[in-house]
Amino acid sequence: MVVSQIVTAKIRIGAAQKVFRDGAREVRALNDVSLEIQANEFVTLVGASGCGKSTLLRAIGGLETLTAGKIEVDGRSIAGPGVERAMVFQHYSLYPWLTVSENIRFSRQFSVNRRDVTSADVEIASGRADALLRLMGLQAFARAYPNQLSGGMQQRTAIARALMSRPSILVMDEPFGALDAQTRELMHDLLLHVFKMESTTIVFVTHDVDEAIYLGQRVVVMAPNPGRIDSIVPVPLPAPREQDMKLSPQFLQLKKQILERIRATSGLGSSKDLLEQLTREAAPA
Ligand SMILES: Nc1ncnc2c1ncn2[C@@H]1O[C@H](COP(=O)(O)OP(=O)(O)OP(=O)(O)O)[C@@H](O)[C@H]1O
Ligand SMILES: [Mg+2]
Repeated sequence: MVVSQIVTAKIRIGAAQKVFRDGAREVRALNDVSLEIQANEFVTLVGASGCGKSTLLRAIGGLETLTAGKIEVDGRSIAGPGVERAMVFQHYSLYPWLTVSENIRFSRQFSVNRRDVTSADVEIASGRADALLRLMGLQAFARAYPNQLSGGMQQRTAIARALMSRPSILVMDEPFGALDAQTRELMHDLLLHVFKMESTTIVFVTHDVDEAIYLGQRVVVMAPNPGRIDSIVPVPLPAPREQDMKLSPQFLQLKKQILERIRATSGLGSSKDLLEQLTREAAPA
């Protein structure tokens, strides 16, 4: 007997279109964007500023409605945010009046006020919060307030909070954009560890091509005006990823290929052309 199995993509983006209207001006932030992301895949998005990366992420998160097209999660069209999709942004958006531990538990505290929640549920949530504190190396800071933490620790708290509801999808918009290079590297390895432990699907936006290659199983290169997918570059580096891989010829070749596509589609020409243009514009007439 042949058993055929239809594998449904975890996230299916079909002909997504997003037009922003600002008076008479129309911005095509997403133009016919189609992409399938499989369960437990780590996909990174790169591209010139304004090519629609954040718009696409917000649409996956359910924070932005599409002008046309659709987004399905597990085969069902999304209609707004859902607990199975958690978002992490560049700015940590922690509650400054709550401790690390309270920030992580916050979303659950909302739900424990529901009538149908049992003490067992509360205990499970509490155990989950403790496990996440340990996973993110934050036990010693459980009682600290966000303003007492470094940027990296704040972002670890934000990630732990996002993981609290056991999302099957983590959507991250330049989450490490404000961190220094060394902290960023630590966060990369930590995130890959979390990815493995939690079996999530991750969609991650960055401006940093090294970061996109190091983390991603595929790098989606987007292009602006209108916002669209230019190319998709598979990353054949083995897991687990190691920092030394960034120096390998294979890594550098991927970096070159991706940078060339970003430059070719950014509409800025080469940085030399841009400098010449700015110098001409700045020169007295
Ligand atoms: N709420 C909005 N109203 C009007 N235009 C918007 C709005 N949000 C985004 N846009 C426009 O849509 C386009 C895509 O924006 P988006 O923020 O998705 O780009 P991005 O790729 O995330 O850029 P960056 O790399 O700078 O973060 C831009 O031209 C932007 O100006
Ligand atoms: Mg953005």
